[in-house]
Amino acid sequence: MKRKIRVAVICGGKSVEHEISLQSARNVIEAMDREKYDIVLIGIDKEGRWHLKNLASFEEEIKSSFLPHLAPQGDEVVFVPAAGGQLVNLTTGERLQAVDVVFPVLHGSFGEDGTIQGLLKIAGVPFVGAGVLGSAVAMDKEASKRLLKEAGIPIGKFLPFTSEEKEKIKFNEVVNYLGLPLFIKPASLGSSVGMDKVKREEDFLPVLEKAFRYDSKILIEEYIQGREIECAVLGNESPRASCLGEIIPRYEFYSYEAKYVDPEGALLQIPASLPENIVKEAQRLAIQAFRALFGEGMARVDFFLRGEEILINELNTIPGFTSISMYPKLWEISGIPYPQLIDELIHLALERKKKEENLQTFIN
Ligand SMILES: Nc1ncnc2c1ncn2[C@@H]1O[C@H](COP(=O)(O)OP(=O)(O)O)[C@@H](O)[C@H]1O
Ligand SMILES: [Mg+2]
Repeated sequence: MKRKIRVAVICGGKSVEHEISLQSARNVIEAMDREKYDIVLIGIDKEGRWHLKNLASFEEEIKSSFLPHLAPQGDEVVFVPAAGGQLVNLTTGERLQAVDVVFPVLHGSFGEDGTIQGLLKIAGVPFVGAGVLGSAVAMDKEASKRLLKEAGIPIGKFLPFTSEEKEKIKFNEVVNYLGLPLFIKPASLGSSVGMDKVKREEDFLPVLEKAFRYDSKILIEEYIQGREIECAVLGNESPRASCLGEIIPRYEFYSYEAKYVDPEGALLQIPASLPENIVKEAQRLAIQAFRALFGEGMARVDFFLRGEEILINELNTIPGFTSISMYPKLWEISGIPYPQLIDELIHLALERKKKEENLQTFIN
C-alpha cells in the first residue's frame, strides 16, 4: 500500500483574520481524503505560539461561536531548520515524525505575507501556495499595484503614503488627482479591516487616521463604482483560470460586516452573469496578474468591472476556504471538486520543491 502523505495544516495566527483562518482550515480538513493524507493540525494562537491540536477537539473548539479564537492549548511545536519537515514537541522534547508538506491556511500578516513561507523554506519542507516573494509582494498593495502597472495590467489610480508623510497629505491635492469619492485603506491588511469610503471633506481625516491605526503605510485610491468580479487561478508554470464569480455586497462596499458578520451581507453569484468577451478578458488578465506578482500554486484575483472596463483590485495568495468562500466554489463550478482541488494544491507544492532541489547549490 502506498504510504499516506503527511500534511501539516497550519491555522489561526496573530493576524486580524485569525477567526477566518480557523473556518477555512476546518473546511480544508473536511475536504481532505483520509485515505491519502495523514493530517497534523497546528494551531497558532493569538500570541503567535504554535500548538499541536487534536483533530476531533478542534471541531468542538471552533464550533462554539461563529468567529472563534483558538485556545492557547496543546503541546507547543516548532519546525527544525533544514530537517525536511521535522517537528519537535517543545513540551515533551520529543522529535515527531516529519511532515511531507505544509498547507498554511493563514490569512493576512505572518501567514500570507511571506514570513511563514520563509520559515517553511528554512525548515526544508514543501508548502502550498506562493513562495516568499509572491506572498510578500501580493500582501503589499503598493508593491503589487506598481508591478501590475508595470506589466500593463489595468488598475485604478492610487497614491501611497507612509505615516511619516501624514502631515503632508492635502485633501484638495488628493481630490485633484483621484476625484471624489475616495477610498482609503491600510497597505497590507485584508478582510476589509481599517478601510472606508470618503465622500466629503469632513470624513477625510477620520478615515485616514483609522487606516493609519492598522498600518504605517496606507493607500488613497480613486473610488471605483463598479461590479466586483473574482477569478480563481491554479498552477505553477502553467496556471489555469476558473470561471468568474460576482460579489454583490448589500453594504456600501464589501466590508468586514458584509464579508463575515452578516450572513446576508453579500450575494455570491457563480458563474457571474457576464458576456463571453468580458469573461475571456478577465481570465486572461487573472493569469497575467498571477505571473506579474510571482504567483505559485493558487491565488484569487479580484476585479472591478466599470462599464466594459476591467480593473484589477488585488490578488490574494491564500484565499478564503470557508464554506461560503469563492475560491473553492469557483473551482467546483469549473469542474474541480473540493477534494480534488486539495490534491492538486498539494501536488503543486511537492512539484515546486522537487524543481528547487534540482537547482545547483555549489559553484563550479
Ligand atoms: N478603490 C476602490 N473603489 C471602490 N471600492 C473599493 C476600492 N478599494 C476597495 N474597495 C472595496 O473594499 C473592499 C475591500 O478592499 P480590498 O482592497 O479588496 O482589501 P482587502 O484586502 O481587505 O480585501 C473591496 O472588495 C471593495 O468592496
Ligand atoms: Mg479584497
